[in-house]
Order: sequence, then structure tokens, then C-alpha cells
Amino acid sequence: MQPRDLSDHVAYEAGRGIEEVARELGRDPSEFVKLASNENPHGPSPAAAVALRDAASSVSSYPKAAHADLTAAVADRWSVDDQQVWLANGGDGAIDYLHRATLEPGDTVRVPTPGFAYYGMSARYHHGEVREYAIEREDDFAQTAETVLDSYDDDRVVWVTSPHNPTGSTMPLAEIERLADETDDETLIVVDEAYGEFADRDSAVALIEGRDGYDARDDVAVLRTFSKAYGLAGVRLGYAIVPAEWGEAYARVNTPFAASELACRAGLAAMDDEEHVERTVETARESREHMRDAIDAHVWESEGNFVLVDVGNATAVAEEMQRRGVIVRDCSSFGLPACIRITCGTDEETERAVETVNDVLAELDLESEPDDDADADGETAVDPDPEAEVSDT
Ligand SMILES: Cc1ncc(COP(=O)(O)O)c(C=O)c1O
Repeated sequence: MQPRDLSDHVAYEAGRGIEEVARELGRDPSEFVKLASNENPHGPSPAAAVALRDAASSVSSYPKAAHADLTAAVADRWSVDDQQVWLANGGDGAIDYLHRATLEPGDTVRVPTPGFAYYGMSARYHHGEVREYAIEREDDFAQTAETVLDSYDDDRVVWVTSPHNPTGSTMPLAEIERLADETDDETLIVVDEAYGEFADRDSAVALIEGRDGYDARDDVAVLRTFSKAYGLAGVRLGYAIVPAEWGEAYARVNTPFAASELACRAGLAAMDDEEHVERTVETARESREHMRDAIDAHVWESEGNFVLVDVGNATAVAEEMQRRGVIVRDCSSFGLPACIRITCGTDEETERAVETVNDVLAELDLESEPDDDADADGETAVDPDPEAEVSDT
């Protein structure tokens, strides 16, 4: 017997870790810094680490109270009802729940390209059809309602990533409102704010709740995660905020005990540790500004904890940087073969990334002359692997 036909599905390929790279190159892990998965350079909140240790002895019980407490804390944070908070196993889990709650077989899900791969993967698991809209390099990856409406076709779900991975651009709330206004009543606009804490933007929760001059609406949802600003990527904790009308659906679609005891306890402690989040956000702001100033290549403005850099030949530059101990994301698999994405690190890590990328660019530039195969935009052509689907974390 075989599994069902999974030929339309692609494997989830996680970003490469320090141990893995060090082993492959026969080197010591301490020689490397990983700036490839948009993780928190300060680690988890110390309070969350203590909560994890304290919770260890109670993991023989199902996480009922902790789940309810965290739901209430998140609801309080956003001034919404508890039912509007859908806790999940990471933001990825919340993506699944939203698809479970919306998709009938054959419904279409509109996703950005370049963009976060899991939207499409999850849509396919839930028997949805994936359609794309383009965020254009020529427009500096700007996001407006038109960006989506140009290709929109009565889709059931539209994903908006703001700040966007991997470019760092955002869609203003007024544009998200216009998008929701101009799409069908049965289209859910999901605003993925996985990097929301790093942006100088209001959350799209204002659109759901009708605050700050916006009318309340039932066709927008928001996704958030504890993986980035809270430094809890390893515990897997995220959530969706849904319109009040959607609240009851959670009980019908969620995996029982959607977030673990450890995740809930860590999440509660992390939410109380505002200082850690503030420090993390401040570090990211300084790091991305420094990279924009100091890297000898075009760096797009970013509101996330990462920057996208036009290096010409992403694979060559990422590989050489890795050999020199700095692991960054080659964005070829996003369809951006000229770009790498560098996560904002600590001051030291950022400085090392800047120096390394500048050295590599200078040296590769020398090597590639005069036989440079750059195209008219000055980009070196590298064929992206059309089959490749990456985790994009
Ligand atoms: C845009 C975006 N959305 C959602 C996620 C999901 O994150 P997690 O499942 O760790 O919460 C990520 C992870 O990198 C992301 O980049």
C-alpha cells in the first residue's frame, strides 16, 4: 500500500543549522554564526527559560489551564475575546487552522511570490489550489491593494505578509482595508504579522475590531508568532486573531491541545518580559540600519529582523560567506537568484556579516572580471531550482 498521490506536494526543507554546516565542512561549530533563519540573536527571554524549567515536572498532564491562561493573556493583549485567539503549533500551525476553517476542495488560495513557502504547502494539504500574485523587484517589492488585485480571481483566502519575508516591505493598513473592500465577501484576507513587532506599523487587528477609524469587519484575520521577537522558535508557538464571527470554528478544526504545556508556559512568561522584546526590536532596528549603510551592495529597506541584499550571484556569495563562517539565506529558491537575506544579529554578528559580505563581494568581483556573465541589470544569471521549496524561516 502507498500514501495518496503526493506528487503535487513538496518537501519542507529547513534552513541549515550551525551543527550541520560545521560537520559538513569538518569545522568547529563555534566558528560559525547563523543569520539565515530570522531567529532572535538574544535567545529566549530569560523569564521564559525559567518557566520552561519550572514546567518540566508538570508535563505529564495535558495543557488545559496553561492553554486557557495563554489564550486569555493574548486576548487581553489585543483587547479581543478569548474565542478570537487561535493558539497553534507555531505560526505554521495557525496557517493550517485557517485553511482547515476556510477551504473546500478546489478553492483557491492566493499567495505572494516571492514569499513564504508554507502558505502554498498548507493550502495543498487542505485540498486547495495555489495561485500567486507578484511582488515586483522593479517596484522595490512595494505592496499595495493593486499588487494583489491585479491577479485576484475570487480566491477564498489571500495571504498578505507584512512585513514581508524575504523583502522586508509592508502593506499599509489603508491598503489592506481597500483590498478587503474590493475582494469578494467570501474572501478572507490573512495578514501575516510574524515580524510585526519589528515594524513601525499598526497591526491589522484594528481592521478586525474596527479601531483607529476603521470599520469592523469579518473578512480579515491576523497571524502572529512567538518565534521571532520573543525568541521561542524552538517551542513552536503562534496564533491567529480572527473576527468574532469565526470564534466557534476553532473548536471544530484545532488539533486537541494545539499548543503544548511547555509552549504555553514559556509564552506566558515571555509576554510579561517586555524588556526582552524591546531589546530585541532595538537590536534589529540598529542592525538593519547598519547593514543598509555599510554593505557595498543594494540593501532594501526592511521592517523585519532581516535585510535583503542584491549581491549579483546569491549562491556563490552565500557559499563563500558560509566557508568564512557566516551562514545566510541564499534567496535563489525564492526566485531571487541575485539576492541573499541576512538576519539582524547582535552588534558583533552584524559587523561580522557586513565585513564578510563586503570582502566576498570585492573578491568575487575581481575573480569574475573580465568574463562576467552579468545580464543587463548587472545581475548574474543563476538558474533557480523550480522544484525547490524552502522553509523560509
Ligand atoms: C512570513 C512568515 N510567516 C510565518 C512564519 C512561521 O513561523 P513559526 O511557525 O515559527 O511561528 C514564518 C517563519 O519564518 C515566516 O517567515
